[in-house]
Amino acid sequence: MRITMIGSGYVGLVSGVCFADFGHDVICVDKDLSKIEALREGRIPIYEPGLEQLVAENTSTGRLSFSTDVGESVRSADVVFIAVGTPSRRGDGHADLSYVYAAAREIATYVEGFTVIVTKSTVPVGTGDEVERIMRETNPAADVAVVSNPEFLREGAAIEDFKRPDRIVVGLNDDRARETMTEVYRPLYLNQAPLVFTTRRTSELIKYAANAFLAMKITFINEIADLCERVDANVQDVSRGIGLDGRIGAKFLHAGPGYGGSCFPKDTLALAKTAQDYDAPIRLIETTISINDNRKRAMGRKVISAVGGDIRGKKIAILGLTFKPNTDDMRDSPAIAVIQTLQDAGAKVVGYDPEGMENARKVIENIEYASGPYEAAADADALVIVTEWNQFRALDFNRLKQSMRAPVLVDLRNIYRSDEVRKYGFTYTGIGTNLYQESNA
Ligand code: UDX
Repeated sequence: MRITMIGSGYVGLVSGVCFADFGHDVICVDKDLSKIEALREGRIPIYEPGLEQLVAENTSTGRLSFSTDVGESVRSADVVFIAVGTPSRRGDGHADLSYVYAAAREIATYVEGFTVIVTKSTVPVGTGDEVERIMRETNPAADVAVVSNPEFLREGAAIEDFKRPDRIVVGLNDDRARETMTEVYRPLYLNQAPLVFTTRRTSELIKYAANAFLAMKITFINEIADLCERVDANVQDVSRGIGLDGRIGAKFLHAGPGYGGSCFPKDTLALAKTAQDYDAPIRLIETTISINDNRKRAMGRKVISAVGGDIRGKKIAILGLTFKPNTDDMRDSPAIAVIQTLQDAGAKVVGYDPEGMENARKVIENIEYASGPYEAAADADALVIVTEWNQFRALDFNRLKQSMRAPVLVDLRNIYRSDEVRKYGFTYTGIGTNLYQESNA
């Protein structure tokens, strides 16, 4: 199959290189010349484990190439994926589809022969219909079938998720397109990954429903964590105790500072807006959104109470700035709200992140950036773990205690146990454990 990927951002690039690795001929297209030049030289604009090597392997075989030329890439393709951004529209929270529609218009002018057009970007229900309408309007002679094929890739584990998916969802209403999509995913299909064929609208909704459900699951355990702190229970044991029930499932029950990232905040908002528009509001999701928004600042207040209530002039060290480990992505990271809350209360903040510092500097100003966890902790009145990078999982607490002004650890990801930290003389505040009160008694 000859596949063209319009948009070489996170999703386009990962999907493109994985398709090439399956043996297809793939051209990844982007308007940004500097990005394409970098990719041609093997430089990857994002941090994603394993991606650089996979790009190198597949460009050297000639199966993967990069281009800024939409026309040439589309003309030769059997399948064109649209993988451009769908950010939240300023003001109303709806997904901004202008890039998707612009891509559709441009693709329509160049298609030759039967071509399957696949929307990979996360788009609201009905977008496929509009893409089809735009393409027919732009080029009435175009022989195209428009398909929805959402992605379920987690940043930091995207290649693994692509190659070993729980399922592949394909929404279409054209038999030729069904054949083509089966061919595109043949290697996974042969590996027993279920291919769920459905209508285009249903497929578009599946993506939002999946992300909203996961966001709701995290928010549920976060609220249970708050209750655990009051009633002398332990949220990690609650997670395990409920997660072993196959109907509930163990994943996405890790309590923390609230979900962030490029998908959950944007997609929950867009789903809530769509549902309101169709007069079928999903109140569970509306509530999830507001609980999660409030939670991020509440985490800042948790730090303030862990240092005794008055944080003015105190120095707080933040470990982990990205929204989760193994990414350099800062989008909607809880660290942003936590730091803002601390600064508003008069604290001085120093931050460190293994991969996210460059992006962090663009969104978090007026803090000091340290070169490592111990450098950040020097003279600090508290150490706060916001993102669970592996690098923070085995800190030398003797060394920290010597250099910190006060031995206070706030662990917003529960990567330590209270008892193992307290034996070094630290006070420990985790999420959803009563031991917070004990340690401060
Ligand atoms: C998510 C979906 O998992 C993926 O299928 C979709 O296509 C894109 O959105 P991603 O945003 O990369 O992927 O990260 P994910 O691992 O899902 O984590 C999202 C947020 O939830 C992070 O802030 C993470 O820290 C938080 N989270 C996740 C929790 O707080 N607890 C959990 O148990 C799991």
